[in-house]
Amino acid sequence: MKKGIAAVVTSVLLLVIVFSCHQNHDKNNQVQFVTNTIVFDSSKVPHTPYGRAVLYGRELVMNTAKYIGPDGLEGKYATNKMSCRDCHQDGGLKPNSFSLVLTHDVYPQYRAREGKILSLAERINNCINRPLNGRSLPLDSKEMIAFLSYLRYINNEWGNDTIFKEKKEDSLNLPDMAASPEHGAVLYQVNCSRCHGVNGSGLLNGDKSGYLYPPLWGDSSYQAGSSMHRVIKLAGWIKYNMPFDRALPGKPFLTNQQALDIAAFINDDDLHKRPVNDRVNDYPDIKMKPVDYEKGPYVDSFSQKQHKYGPYPPIIKYLKEHDLRIAY
Ligand code: HEC
Ligand code: HEC
Repeated sequence: MKKGIAAVVTSVLLLVIVFSCHQNHDKNNQVQFVTNTIVFDSSKVPHTPYGRAVLYGRELVMNTAKYIGPDGLEGKYATNKMSCRDCHQDGGLKPNSFSLVLTHDVYPQYRAREGKILSLAERINNCINRPLNGRSLPLDSKEMIAFLSYLRYINNEWGNDTIFKEKKEDSLNLPDMAASPEHGAVLYQVNCSRCHGVNGSGLLNGDKSGYLYPPLWGDSSYQAGSSMHRVIKLAGWIKYNMPFDRALPGKPFLTNQQALDIAAFINDDDLHKRPVNDRVNDYPDIKMKPVDYEKGPYVDSFSQKQHKYGPYPPIIKYLKEHDLRIAY
């Protein structure tokens, strides 16, 4: 009898999960959950050439592959079908989802990774190169100008909103334990596989112009050179944003340790293949490397493995004691 009840409960639960995963698709076949309170209202954008560039920029951020993906209408730049908004959710308007609201104001900016000052256009190309595993857009292309116009617009509209000033995704409390790909594997199957797939390859949308659920590893996913491939960086994002239908604004679903374990599992290169990082001259000054940067040499003597998976507190303690840069 008890078994019978358990079976009923299990199937109801499964139904709920399957149902919640497949409801509420809009006309672009994208899932609609309330994940953000800020709304982009295109009717407020001025009817000017600049306004048209803003709207095109928004469209490019939301449906990137359609225009500049492997079958892109405007040219083949990205080699995968991911969209900017897969990571910069709601077109960069969602707090704690690598929001792009304050970005326009802070470029040109010195970038430790390149060891030089980058313009915003060059920084955008970094994301086309690494997460989208592609080649750079010409700096004067209609598409680049549209991206820049959109970033300027959202900065003007929401740049004074205090919610964007607190970068919560960076404030993960780092436990004394190393992140565990083994624990992450189990957590992944329970919390993530129903959308991203058991094999992490995600699911294309109805007309195959982009993803309903983007891939997390494999040839169509972000490169090893993307910051998403850093365990702390990815964990911070996951904690505040995933599972998509469970993490509510300001209310994470996973604990720090769970997010770190899952990030370790996703980014474990022994378990999962992904496009390689073809850039070799990163961080010309090794003192500038983030704590979770997985490529040596380092300024300290901690192993590559410890830099990637932790435990991080001993590394941070060492950097602090030696007055060195602490970034992640
Ligand atoms: C796979 C995830 C992913 C995708 C897809 C992606 N990005 Fe990024 N992007 C990142 C990460 C990670 C960062 C670094 C965020 C940080 O360190 O806080 C970043 C940073 C940026 C920045 C710098 C923000 C700042 O304030 O310094 C810009 C601009 C940017 N992305 C634009 C884009 C654009 C435009 C696209 C689409 C063409 C795109 N990104 C696609 C992950 C992604
Ligand atoms: C209900 C479906 C669903 C579940 C469950 C879910 N995701 Fe996602 N995930 C999405 C969607 C949809 C996006 C794209 C975000 C957008 O377009 O706003 C996404 C984007 C991502 C991204 C950034 C894009 C990329 O492909 O790199 C990562 C990383 C990610 N999810 C990890 C996870 C992890 C880890 C879990 C489990 C803890 C999880 N997701 C659970 C639907 C889901």
